[in-house]
Amino acid sequence: MTNVKNPYLQGLFAPVAEEVTAHDLPVTGRIPAGLRGRYLRIGPNPLGPLGPDEDASYHLFTGAGMVHGIRLRDGRAEWYRNRWVRSRDVAERLGEPWAAGPAVEGFDVSPNTHVIEHAGETYALIEAGARPYRLDHELGTLGPSDFGGTLKGGYPAHTKKDPDTGELHAIGYYFGWEHLEYTVLSADGRIVRSVEIPVADSPMVHDLALTQKYVVIYDLPITFSMRLAEEGRSLPYEWNPKHPARVGIMPRSGGAADVRWIDIPPCWVFHTLNAYDDGDRVVVDLVSFPSFMNGGRTDGNPPPTLDRWTIDPAALTVHQETIDDRAQEFPRMDERLVTRPHRYGYTVTAEAIVQNQAGEALMKHDYVNGSSEARLFPAGSGVGEAAFVPSGPSAAEDDGYLMALTFDPERQATDLVIIASQDFTGEPVATVHLPVRVPLGFHGSWAPDAA
Ligand SMILES: [Fe+2]
Repeated sequence: MTNVKNPYLQGLFAPVAEEVTAHDLPVTGRIPAGLRGRYLRIGPNPLGPLGPDEDASYHLFTGAGMVHGIRLRDGRAEWYRNRWVRSRDVAERLGEPWAAGPAVEGFDVSPNTHVIEHAGETYALIEAGARPYRLDHELGTLGPSDFGGTLKGGYPAHTKKDPDTGELHAIGYYFGWEHLEYTVLSADGRIVRSVEIPVADSPMVHDLALTQKYVVIYDLPITFSMRLAEEGRSLPYEWNPKHPARVGIMPRSGGAADVRWIDIPPCWVFHTLNAYDDGDRVVVDLVSFPSFMNGGRTDGNPPPTLDRWTIDPAALTVHQETIDDRAQEFPRMDERLVTRPHRYGYTVTAEAIVQNQAGEALMKHDYVNGSSEARLFPAGSGVGEAAFVPSGPSAAEDDGYLMALTFDPERQATDLVIIASQDFTGEPVATVHLPVRVPLGFHGSWAPDAA
């Protein structure tokens, strides 16, 4: 096999080679003056040049992380920056000293999956046992973090922030553990609670769900593969039909012995949209795949659907229904309502994941009316995940903006679009024109300036 380029290194996935700083970006429309902060988005961007073996074996989920940021203030787009997250490997490839931090149990990688703001710090995150990395306000790497010596192992990419306490809830995993680790990170950035939950086969766990009463745990059939590890795969996990699919439900104050497990048909979940208690039941809105990572591959999977799982913790049942069977992913919502009933959710058409093509629409779902709207983007735009930003501290649900990156094929560069959520298919409130292309990536956040 020669010259068979890895599809995840081409087209809109192709990594960029330069770190860029640009000021006073051109804007179409008007950036609301109340938006003061940074829109941050991260994704894999391997540092080249890659040799033929590296190219062939490259896995989308393990490419070195590059974070992109756009600073908005007083109606202006002050800057755009993109920076690699300097893990030891990335620092060495760039010829820079590594900002060594606490010893890493497991391994050190450049996080590429999520970038969040918590306790006044910006963190780049991945999963599978790697440490978080702290970034400065201008996206420079400060170094790996163990949350002030309180984190035992790695920390995952997806968290749920309890709006009542400001605490971050998460479930971490590592192939060398025979358990998952549920953690609570305090509003001031220290792990204040940790529960080891025994599991078999070292499953991959990408997300969790949180209600006011419960933590919901996905123990699904993608597990560590010694076979793939021996082949030298950078992410040795694959669909494992021998691993039973089950959902765990743990009272928020409970321990491992309090987890009740409920068997479900095999499926895969990357992302929770939201979850809440409905009387004695638990409602979880999420996106699920019939299966994923067959043979460790991220392409060729059956399409995902937007689903609702209603869990009865007493009867130990899960009622599963499909809300929308059109392929979609990257579910988000107004995160002030995490743990509480929500009316609206936002997704992206999932072709980027399913068929290795660009997603072309954002979707808005109304769970009360059972309706949805699709906001189309030009072919080849690869519109990404939309983060919801409320228009003010007391704004109602859905009163705010959706921010997403979308590639402009005519300009051959990426835009940040700011859409009024309540005028979902109308003209964007503002479009910020970045000077360069941002490769397709994973997740992002709005990080408001400190009040
Ligand atoms: Fe994710």
